[in-house]
Amino acid sequence: MPGLFLTLEGLDGAGKTTQAGRLAAFLEARGLPVLLTREPGGGLPGVRELVLKEALSPEAEYLLLSADRAEHVRKVLLPGLRRGQAVVSDRYLDSSLAYQGFGRGLPLPWLLEVAKGATLGLKPRLTFLLDLPPELALARVKDPDRLERLGPAFFQKVREGYLALAQAEPERFVVLDATRPEEEVARAIQAHLLPLLP
Ligand code: TYD
Repeated sequence: MPGLFLTLEGLDGAGKTTQAGRLAAFLEARGLPVLLTREPGGGLPGVRELVLKEALSPEAEYLLLSADRAEHVRKVLLPGLRRGQAVVSDRYLDSSLAYQGFGRGLPLPWLLEVAKGATLGLKPRLTFLLDLPPELALARVKDPDRLERLGPAFFQKVREGYLALAQAEPERFVVLDATRPEEEVARAIQAHLLPLLP
């Protein structure tokens, strides 16, 4: 696969979307063709609204997110990578492992089994985890949705889940302290990317 697949992960309010935009601009400035995309909704646009607004069982929530991801992989991510683009996704499978697995308690083996079909085994080359305490993350969120209303205990589990995922795959994850100023976090991301760029 010629392209470069990068993802950003973290709690709501961690600054992923800002950093995804900065990362895309950095890669473009270095002459790389960039595709900036996101989950949920990157494959099936209606899924984000359903997941945020409806009180779904965790299983239904995960299966909807997986349907969205299956479309996202086949129609957006893989075609972009085949064209040789640097594909930057604001959230991907690790969000489900952290939120639906560690947060909502679904068993990881089942999540991973479904994910095999949904993702066709596509994994990011690097995943930037913007880590910060839930109290700080939630305080930054202006418009709390259903997941945000689950409160700090839920988000503590999600945070710990993300850190466990990062510990299990240190060669893929880059854990960044998201309490630092935006500019510093952006520079840390860029420093990790330099060795991978042509
Ligand atoms: P996102 O659009 O990133 O929210 P925001 O831009 O408001 O931070 O994600 C919406 C919510 O969906 C967010 O609370 C995280 C959650 N989510 C999951 O629970 N599992 C997943 O697999 C994904 C992709 C998102």
